Amino acid sequence: MRKKLVAGNWKMHGSLQSNAALLEQIRAGVVGLACEVAVFPPYPYLAQTRALLSDSEVAWGGQSLSEYPVGAYTAEVSAAMLLDFGCRYVLVGHSERRALFGETDAVVAAKFAAAQQASLIPVLCVGETLAEREAGLTTSVVSRQLSVIIEAQGVAALASAVVAYEPVWAIGTGVTATPQQAQEVHAAIRRQVAVLDASVAKGLRILYGGSVKPQSAAELFGQVDVDGGLVGGAALVADDFLAICRAAN
Ligand code: 13P
Repeated sequence: MRKKLVAGNWKMHGSLQSNAALLEQIRAGVVGLACEVAVFPPYPYLAQTRALLSDSEVAWGGQSLSEYPVGAYTAEVSAAMLLDFGCRYVLVGHSERRALFGETDAVVAAKFAAAQQASLIPVLCVGETLAEREAGLTTSVVSRQLSVIIEAQGVAALASAVVAYEPVWAIGTGVTATPQQAQEVHAAIRRQVAVLDASVAKGLRILYGGSVKPQSAAELFGQVDVDGGLVGGAALVADDFLAICRAAN
């Protein structure tokens, strides 16, 4: 049985004051839930997150990382630094990184490798744009994004990774993929892995992300290949995030 994971990607939101309240509520609200819960605050708040969550059931991670281990790379944050602050996970290849900051498939693969070298669990984000979906390219785009990682790292690397399917057209738009649309892509991802290694495919957690709300979460998480969610906007509101966590329970 794959344990469900609900992760909150805070993106570039928060302050010391608002985070403290949000983290306290999440920490208290997840007690007794069967699913795993994680938060991804901006880098400067990882120390605060560690301080407030260290003896809780909630995990945390970085929103990205450098592909380089150490050195003269101004403004970059290494995998080892994330580990120093107690991170368990790190997002890799979020569509905002790909679209706004020029992260290519090759960079995403290098970041994925850097994360695993440091024993962080990469959460590999994949997903098609609206134009790609309308052109019937959804499966080929997602499959390519996953292939790049498998070719570079081998399929076994996915045994200690998480995949998040985030259709770009659903991110921050209020338009959620239907449970059927999500299931179709999640099943395709799992089939692609299963061809190479059935056991890795069976254990691989595939999260759905893109306008997940308390109202849509239960049906999405009820699909056989949807193992939880990567939540943006709703993760900034404790009641909404906790309702989504309970939907995965
Ligand atoms: P929203 O939930 O705000 O659509 O964001 C999804 C996302 O990008 C999570 O990484």
